[in-house]
Amino acid sequence: MNQLFEEIPFIENPQYERIIENILAQQYCIVEDFFTDEEVSLLRQSLIEKHEEDAFKKAAIGNRVNEIIVKSIRGDVILWIDELKANKAESLFFNKINNLINYLNKTCFLGIIHKEFHYALYPEGTYYKRHIDTFQNDDRRKLSIVCYLNEDGWLPENGGELVLYLNENGEETEKVIYPFPGRVVIFESQIIEHEVKPVNKQRMSITGWLKTR
Ligand code: OGA
Ligand code: MN
Repeated sequence: MNQLFEEIPFIENPQYERIIENILAQQYCIVEDFFTDEEVSLLRQSLIEKHEEDAFKKAAIGNRVNEIIVKSIRGDVILWIDELKANKAESLFFNKINNLINYLNKTCFLGIIHKEFHYALYPEGTYYKRHIDTFQNDDRRKLSIVCYLNEDGWLPENGGELVLYLNENGEETEKVIYPFPGRVVIFESQIIEHEVKPVNKQRMSITGWLKTR
C-alpha cells in the first residue's frame, strides 16, 4: 500500500535540520528529545498493554517471504503497528514521524513513500547479534529509526546497548548507545551494521524503517 505524505503540512523545525546534517556527516543521528516525556509514557503504556494481551510474536530474521525464527540471532518479541488503527499514543507517534518524513522528502528529495514500525520488547537475557537492516531481496529500507521507551532511565548494568559499527577513515569504530527513554536513533539502513548487546532488564522500544520505492 502506498502511503502519501504530500498532504501533511511542511513544518519548519531546527531539530530536523540537525538530523539531516548528522546523517549526511556520519550516517547516524541521536536525538534526545524527539518525543516528550508524556508521549514516551503513553507509548510505553500502549506497548505494555498490548504485550499483556499477548499480541506480540517472536521476531523473525528476514522478511515475510523468508521468515525463519532464529533465537540464537535475536530474542526480542515484536508487534507491528497499524497506522490505520492507531490509538492515541500511536497517532501522536505517527504525527511526528510523518512530519519528519515530509521534511526529509521536501528538503532532501529522499523519496520516502512507505514506512513500517513495530514495538519491540527484549526480555532479560535476549539480544540481537550484529546485522544490517536490509534484506538480500529487498533494499527499500533507507533509514532505520529506533525510539526507546524504557521506564526510569537506564543503567549501564542493564546492558542492552545498541552498538553501531562505523567506518572512520578505513578503521572500524564502535559507537555505544544506551537505550535511554525518549532517545531516538536514526541511521542509514543499508550502511550501518549494528547489534543489541544482551539485556539484563526488560528493554522496550519502537523500531521502524522509512522506505523508498
Ligand atoms: C532492529 C534493531 C536496535 C535497537 O530491530 O533491527 O537493530 O536498539 N534494533 O533496538
Ligand atoms: Mn537492526
